[in-house]
Amino acid sequence: MAPDAATITSNAPPNAPQSLLDWVSSVAELTRPDQVYWCDGSEAERDRLQRQLVASGTFVPLNPQLRPNSFLARSDPADVARVEASTYICSATPEDAGPTNNWADPAHMRTTLAGLFAGSMRGRVMYVIPFSMGPVGSPLARLGIEITDSAYVVLNMRIMTRMGTPALDRIAAGDYWVPAVHSVGYPLVDETGTNRPDVPWPCNPTKYITHFPETREIWSYGSGYGGNALLGKKCYALRIASVIARDEGWLAEHMLILKITSPQGREFHLTAAFPSACGKTNLAMLRPTIPGWKVDTIGDDIAWMRPGPDGRLYAINPESGFFGVAPGTSEKTNPTALHALSHDVIFTNVALTDDGDIWWEGLTDESPAHLIDWRGHDWTPDSPGPAAHPNGRFTVHASQAESIADDWEDPRGVPIDVILFGGRRAHNVPLISESYDWEHGVFVGATVSSEQTAAAEGTVGALRRDPFAMLPFCGYNMADYWAHWLALGRTLGAGAPRIFQVNWFRKSADGRYLWPGFGDNARPIEWALRRVAGELDATDAISGRLPRPGDLDLDGLEFSTEDLDALFALDPDAWAAEANLTEDYFVQFGDKLPPELTGQLAALRDRIARARAAVQ
Ligand code: GTP
Ligand code: SPV
Ligand code: MN
Repeated sequence: MAPDAATITSNAPPNAPQSLLDWVSSVAELTRPDQVYWCDGSEAERDRLQRQLVASGTFVPLNPQLRPNSFLARSDPADVARVEASTYICSATPEDAGPTNNWADPAHMRTTLAGLFAGSMRGRVMYVIPFSMGPVGSPLARLGIEITDSAYVVLNMRIMTRMGTPALDRIAAGDYWVPAVHSVGYPLVDETGTNRPDVPWPCNPTKYITHFPETREIWSYGSGYGGNALLGKKCYALRIASVIARDEGWLAEHMLILKITSPQGREFHLTAAFPSACGKTNLAMLRPTIPGWKVDTIGDDIAWMRPGPDGRLYAINPESGFFGVAPGTSEKTNPTALHALSHDVIFTNVALTDDGDIWWEGLTDESPAHLIDWRGHDWTPDSPGPAAHPNGRFTVHASQAESIADDWEDPRGVPIDVILFGGRRAHNVPLISESYDWEHGVFVGATVSSEQTAAAEGTVGALRRDPFAMLPFCGYNMADYWAHWLALGRTLGAGAPRIFQVNWFRKSADGRYLWPGFGDNARPIEWALRRVAGELDATDAISGRLPRPGDLDLDGLEFSTEDLDALFALDPDAWAAEANLTEDYFVQFGDKLPPELTGQLAALRDRIARARAAVQ
C-alpha cells in the first residue's frame, strides 16, 4: 500500500511547504512506493544507507585498512553510461530544442512517462532529496528536489550536491526549486501483488531521460548511472540551467574552473570546456611542471557564470563533488585525484583486488595477477576485456582534493580571465591558439569537434561535432545558445575573458601523442596568461594567434623540432576541408544561425587563402 497524502505530510519535515507536499504526494500516488523517506543529509543517514546497500549487495565494502568508508558498485552491464539516444528535450516546439537535440512533444511524452512511472516504485522506498546546486544561499545557486527510488543515487547526490536540511530550509523560505523525478524502473511488486527479489543494480532496458524546459521539470526513467540518474548534474545544472541562464542573462557550461597563481603571486581564474572524458578532472587538478606556478581546483565539470557588478564574468561550481573517470587516473597523471580517493569514495564499475581494494587500467604500470572485473568475474592479464569499464567512475567530495581552492565555495564566485575550448583531435588543431576576439572565440567554441569517448553510448573514437562540449547538454536550440554567448560578450565588452583553443591530443604520423600532457599542460596555459598580462606578442595564423618561436616554455622537455612543428602545423588544405564541413554543419540551423558565425567562417576562409598565398 502506497502511503496517502496525509501519511506523507505527517512524516515530512515540519517546514516542508504545501506545494512540495502536494507534488511529493502526487508522485507517490503515481509510482506507488511502500514508503516515502525525506533525506536530511546527515552522516547517520549516510551510514544507514551504506549499511543497507552492503546488505542488499549493491555495495561491496572495500578493505577499511586500505580504503576506509569506501565502496564498490557494479552496474548492470547494460547501464554503464549516459544514453544520449534516450535523452529528450520536450519543449513546446521542435525549433526550441533545435536540430542537435532529440525533441519530443511534451504532451505525448507526459503520457509515455505516466505509463512508465505508474507503479514503478512498488515495493521500494521513495527518497525525497532536497539539494542546492551551488553554495546554499549564494545568489548564483539554485535549488531542486530529486525524488528517486535508488539509495545509491541518494548517496551519490549527498557527495555531488549540497543535499538535505539546509537546502529544504531555503525551499521552505520560498526560494525557487526545480522538481526532478527518477525511477530505476524495477518495481519489486507487480500490479497483481506478486513479489520479486531485488537485484544489486536495478534498472530497466527502457530508458527515458526527459526535460521540460518550459515548466523546468526533469523525469528520468530506467537508468541508475551517473548523469542519467544524479539529476542535479547534467539534467539540472546543464540542460535546465542553460534554459534558465538564457532567460536570466547568464551561462551554464560544461566547464572546469581553476585558479592559477604565477610565481609573482598574481592570481588568474580559468574555465575550460572539454567534451566528456577529455581531461577536465585532470586539468582541474593540474600540477604544473614549470617552477613557481600553482593550480587550485574549484570545479571539474560544470561552471555557472554571470556578469558581476564590475563587468567581469563570475563563476561558481554548482557541484560539491567529483564524479570522475577512473581509468587512466594514476600517481603520474593525476596524483591529486588519486590522493583524494584514499577514503570515503563510491567507486562504480572498477575492478576489485584480492585484498579488497580497487584497480583500473592505468592505475599501475603492471596489472595485478588476479582481479574481479567490473562485471564481477575473475580476471587475469590474459582476460580479453579491460578489468575496469572505460567509463568506470569515482564519486568523491570536492573537499578531499588537496588542491581545492580556499575560495571554491565563495558565494560570489570567482572572476574569470580565460576560457579554454578543447577536445580530442589527432590532427589539425594546434596545441594552443588564441582567438582574435570574443566573436571568433564563440566561432571556435561552436565548431569544436572531438573523438567520442566512453562517457556516452556510441562509437568510441568517431569524430563528432561537440560545440562548447555542450552537444548532449544544451537544453535549447544550439544556434540560440550561440546567439546568447554572442550577446553576453557584448554585455561584458572589455571585461570579457580571453578565449583560447587547446588540444592535448594531437598525434604524429606514426600515432604517438605529440604532447606529454597532464602537468605539462601548464606550459601552454602559462603562455595564455602571459598574453593576458600583455607580456607577449603572438603570430597571426589560420586558427588564431600562435606562440612565437621560443615563447612557449619547454624547459626540461625533450622535444624534436619536427614534433614541435607538428604540434602547431596548420595545413591550409586540411583547414579548408574543415571550413567546408563547418559550412555543411551550420546548414541545419537555418536562419537561426547567428550571422556573426557566417562572418567568422568567411574570415577563416580569408585566413586560409592568405596562408596558401604565403606558401606559394
Ligand atoms: P567528464 O567527467 O566525462 O565530463 O570528463 P572529464 O573531462 O572530467 O574527463 P577526465 O578528466 O576524467 O578525462 C580522462 C581522460 O582524459 C583519460 O583518458 C585521461 O588519460 C585523458 N587525459 C586527461 N588529460 C590528458 C592529457 O593532458 N593528455 C592526454 N593524452 N590525455 C589526457
Ligand atoms: C559526462 O559524461 O560529461 C560526465 C559524466 O560528466 S555523467 O555525469 O555520467 O554525465
Ligand atoms: Mn561532464
